[in-house]
Amino acid sequence: MDGPTGAGDGTVARWTAEPPPDAVLVRRTLDEVAPISDTVTSYFYALLFVRNPDLRALFPAAMDVQRDLLFASLLTVAERLDDGPFLTGYLGRLGRGHRKYGVEAAHYPAVGEALLGALARYAGRVWDGKTEAAWVRAYTTISQTMIDAAAEEGRNSPARWLAEVVAHEPRTPDVAVLTLRTDAPYPFLAGQYTTLETPWWPRIWRHYSLASAPRPDGLLTLHVKAVPAGWVSRALVHRARPGDVLRLGPPAGSMTVDHATDAGLLCLGGGTGIAPIRALVEDVAEHGDRRRVDVFYGARGEPDLYDLDALLRLQRTFPWLSVHPVTGARGLPAAAGAAGPWTGRDAYLSGPPGMVRQGVGVLRGAGVSPERIRHDLPAERAGAEGPSAEVGGVHGADALDVPVEIVAQ
Ligand SMILES: Cc1cc2nc3c(=O)[nH]c(=O)nc-3n(C[C@H](O)[C@H](O)[C@H](O)COP(=O)(O)OP(=O)(O)OC[C@H]3O[C@@H](n4cnc5c(N)ncnc54)[C@H](O)[C@@H]3O)c2cc1C
Ligand code: HEM
Repeated sequence: MDGPTGAGDGTVARWTAEPPPDAVLVRRTLDEVAPISDTVTSYFYALLFVRNPDLRALFPAAMDVQRDLLFASLLTVAERLDDGPFLTGYLGRLGRGHRKYGVEAAHYPAVGEALLGALARYAGRVWDGKTEAAWVRAYTTISQTMIDAAAEEGRNSPARWLAEVVAHEPRTPDVAVLTLRTDAPYPFLAGQYTTLETPWWPRIWRHYSLASAPRPDGLLTLHVKAVPAGWVSRALVHRARPGDVLRLGPPAGSMTVDHATDAGLLCLGGGTGIAPIRALVEDVAEHGDRRRVDVFYGARGEPDLYDLDALLRLQRTFPWLSVHPVTGARGLPAAAGAAGPWTGRDAYLSGPPGMVRQGVGVLRGAGVSPERIRHDLPAERAGAEGPSAEVGGVHGADALDVPVEIVAQ
């Protein structure tokens, strides 16, 4: 059979090497509805909730973000319907990510029916029997890949963890460091992030980097910046107190140290983007690698370099570590680039999207190979570990999309 096959019977989905006609039909449908995607997704959710009122409780009260994400995700999948390895990776992560929402295998058919109902209505000009059959096959394969990945992970990992706030330390008027104790071991790699739900905004999940390498006492640390009008970040910074209980999804992210090489590390952390960089430095220290590590840490002003003292302490302990604080008018990426060349380094970038995007370009210009550059910026990470998309920025976009300059240590 052409195109995506299997699924529905518990077997692992497979794709043939040839581009399947299904991909053409599915893309044609999405092209047809793309200009009216808001209308189609609203209708899709209306159908879903009218026919299955019990499913409404799984979703947040405000649905705007999710609307965009579901459609964007379908577009991503449709674009790559003939790329088996991509789909297996992408949909596997998506399926595993759905466990924390309380999604079960039995929920998928209802979503599929609502989706096809919405497409049939709004893609009427190109909708026919063949197109519908192609969508049934595609959705079956998509959902079975997600279901299988979730089931596989469910065999040895909880869907979510309870995490009690055991310490809450304000560092600046809008940045706090939270220490969490989970109700079960939380295995992760230094440089990864978690997904978090607070009791004040039920079913609203946000990503936060884990700010230390795994610790013997199992505690987790987060650095959170309250963004203007931000729901979750403001609650975490201004409302959370020791004793409050949060929920965490599984760890994710590709910004991890490759211990198979002894290449030096070049790290750029802007604002709270320094959090995963701290974890990477601790990881190198624990492995006793003695690899050269240069950390460029940037923020708008010196008071915003809230973690500088801790980094400078690490620098005094470890001769292989150099910390370069950056503030002001020149730009964190520019400052790092000017200190190069960085040929042969493994590079890690974390911070506001503008900084990360600019940083990737600068570091490539400074001799870093593209495959050695790691970051978890949603838009650019198609196919990599990471969130599907996210409104707003990563790590306090307002903190560092301004240029900055190196300050004396
Ligand atoms: C992989 C990853 C790791 C992350 N790690 C961290 C971390 O370690 N620490 C951390 O503090 N954040 C981190 N973030 C960002 C975090 O996930 C949230 O996006 C952020 O806390 C805002 O959520 P909110 O609910 O408070 O704001 P929302 O309610 O989502 O947004 C409210 C308003 O603020 C705007 N807004 C959203 N984000 C920003 C921003 N950053 N700056 C200015 N305006 C904004 C929105 O457009 C909206 O208008 C990370 C994001 C990703 C994708
Ligand atoms: C083809 C199948 C599906 C696709 C492509 C899909 C896609 C997505 C995407 C991209 C997100 C954004 C957040 C994330 O990446 O985790 C999301 C969130 C979510 N999905 Fe799905 N999904 C599918 C099936 C389902 C099903 C069957 C349910 C259960 C009814 C479901 C319930 C949810 C919920 C509750 C959220 C969180 C909402 C929010 O945070 O705003 N999804 N989905």
